[in-house]
Amino acid sequence: MRPTTRFLLLCACIFTPQFIYSTAASAAPTAKMMANTCAMCHGTDGKAMGKMEELYGKPANKIADELFEFKQENKGRVMAPLMNAYTDEQIRMIAKYFESLPSKKR
Ligand code: HEC
Repeated sequence: MRPTTRFLLLCACIFTPQFIYSTAASAAPTAKMMANTCAMCHGTDGKAMGKMEELYGKPANKIADELFEFKQENKGRVMAPLMNAYTDEQIRMIAKYFESLPSKKR
């Protein structure tokens, strides 16, 4: 192996893992990505079908209060474990996202 080749391989070994790590770290979930996970139960954009709770058109404070209640009081068989998976900051982001959706219904 030529010294230059060996040097380049060494560089690749040193720098590649950091490169992969840094791209993974910058891929923090956006509010929209997190809000999309609610869609399977609360409907697309929080517009629920049937009797399911609607998130659409609610003020962020109200949504966030409900979400913190699920998390802190371990309330709700479905929502408590879900909310335990998010940081408080992420919960606020999700609540703001639903509030930010255009206000005209369907
Ligand atoms: C697997 C289905 C499911 C998913 C996914 C889900 N929810 Fe829920 N959600 C429920 C159920 C069921 C309830 C009723 C309370 C309970 O049993 O936990 C509820 C209740 C709520 C309530 C209270 C509504 C009210 O007026 O009482 C809010 C707010 C809420 N969910 C927000 C969210 C948000 C935001 C997400 C996404 C981060 C989400 N939910 C994801 C099933 C789901």
